Amino acid sequence: AAKPSTPAPVTGVGHPGRARIPARTLRTDRYWVQPAITFGVLFAFIIYATIRAFWNGAYYSAPYISPFYSPCLSTNCVPGTGEVHLLGDWWKLSPALIILIFPLGFRMTCYYYRKAYFRSFWLSPPACAVAEPHGAYSGETRFPLILNNIHRYFFYAGLVFNVILTYDAILGFRNADGEWGHMGLGTLVLLTNATLLWLYSLSCHSCRHAIGGRLKHFSAHPLRYKGWTFVSRLNTRHMLFAWVSLVGVALTDAYVACLAAGVFNDPKFF
Ligand code: FES
Repeated sequence: AAKPSTPAPVTGVGHPGRARIPARTLRTDRYWVQPAITFGVLFAFIIYATIRAFWNGAYYSAPYISPFYSPCLSTNCVPGTGEVHLLGDWWKLSPALIILIFPLGFRMTCYYYRKAYFRSFWLSPPACAVAEPHGAYSGETRFPLILNNIHRYFFYAGLVFNVILTYDAILGFRNADGEWGHMGLGTLVLLTNATLLWLYSLSCHSCRHAIGGRLKHFSAHPLRYKGWTFVSRLNTRHMLFAWVSLVGVALTDAYVACLAAGVFNDPKFF
């Protein structure tokens, strides 16, 4: 005789420990506004970044390079974008696609963005005290969400990119012929972008743990305690830095794209 099958364990909103409330939520406020705005802005960024990454053009206007295309690692980059041709000439697609995985992975696995996309894209749940639509809950224990656990490695990769983008901003003190001692609005744009990215990275939860985690006594590690205190202060603003740096990177790219396409000229300060 066939064995009776064991019923699947009930998890999520169907768990027997949960209150038996038929309504999805008893909230009467407009709790959906925030996730809706988050969805709109993140979705707009995804569309913009995808178009720009596949565009494969208008990413360099000497001495400025778009953050989406730096570092340029293949030989099909436009001249002047650095000579780091690590990948040789077999790569024929947009050079942005090679490096996008790192900033994308960093943001996708970020503790703040997880909250943002769980709430606004998957409604899981959309807000406190609002039941999610899914019947089962597996947390971040399965593919692909289990990959969120590698956030700390993306954090280290993000630091490398910050150094490179800071270097790009310093190169912005040259003119189009490569002579130093010049500054345009583009220099400020690149510097602001690099600063915002540093603030985003330094306020990261993994950064805070890397600096002050796994210590038994702060008194025995005064330097790390100082660093941890500083990073903890930034950490309280991590959501803010996540947003402004995201918008900043898109605006920086758009600025360089406009220069490269000849929409306007870079105003020079000196
Ligand atoms: Fe957001 Fe690390 S937690 S970048």
